[in-house]
Amino acid sequence: MKEDLQLGYLVIDATDVGHWDTFMRETIGFMPGAVYEDGTRNYRMDSWHTRFQVQPSERDDVAVIGLVARTPEVFDALRARVEAAGVEVRAADQTLRERRTMKDLVQFEAPGGVHVELAHSPIQCKQPFHSATVPDGFLTGLQGIGHAVLMVEDLQEAKHFWLDVLGFELSDGSYEETPNGESRAAFLHCNRRHHSMALVQRPPRSTYSKQLLHFMVQANTMDAVGMGFDRALDANLRIPRSLGRHPNDRMFSFYATTPGGFDYELGWGALEVDENWEVAEYDHISAWGHRNLG
Ligand SMILES: [Fe+2]
Repeated sequence: MKEDLQLGYLVIDATDVGHWDTFMRETIGFMPGAVYEDGTRNYRMDSWHTRFQVQPSERDDVAVIGLVARTPEVFDALRARVEAAGVEVRAADQTLRERRTMKDLVQFEAPGGVHVELAHSPIQCKQPFHSATVPDGFLTGLQGIGHAVLMVEDLQEAKHFWLDVLGFELSDGSYEETPNGESRAAFLHCNRRHHSMALVQRPPRSTYSKQLLHFMVQANTMDAVGMGFDRALDANLRIPRSLGRHPNDRMFSFYATTPGGFDYELGWGALEVDENWEVAEYDHISAWGHRNLG
């Protein structure tokens, strides 16, 4: 099983970083990290300085999808593949490398205008990770932060880039009738995590205008998901999917809405991809639960 790449970090554009700060620390249970002069804040899930970075903005959406290569050699090879595909790749300056707490990184755009950074050698923090609300922590390591689900206009075009250029592999796909028309999704892996990225083709009549549909982080215990669900209820968050289980990655999870208007998923117990993985297609995205509580 290739484990050369991970969804290593996410940068989030936020119109209200103060609201986000309370949400990230108290509701999700991340550990606060560095705070920068412009109001940008780091959040930790493990030994890395930066797993989530929330920056002040005029918009609420994902700012950067951060892919982190396992070695500088993997980084160089992947960078060359992106350039060979005719995509403009920009080197980061010292300021940006320090901001992301990565030894090196480059920037490019994926289909749909999604900002992607490819990095290597994340700076490790001396202070150990600790979360009072999620004491057993999150599943990260070579599996990265979790997953991000992007809305795309053209699923084939987006799949071509993420699979054929960036080297992700297809885990499975799904389709679902929604009030706005049929929604189709492709779930992609780049390590043992069932999907680090998912691409959802926006239904024709959808009014959803953000690039990010949701991000997922995975707790190490089932109780942490239940307690996280209680905290989401206590914070009066919108709950578009209550506790339930997905049929494909077998994740036990719930979804609630972040201060940015897109959702987060807190899960536990996902199965992992191995050498004998078999690609499937699902006509549903929940085996049970995941009811819209509004
Ligand atoms: Fe998800």
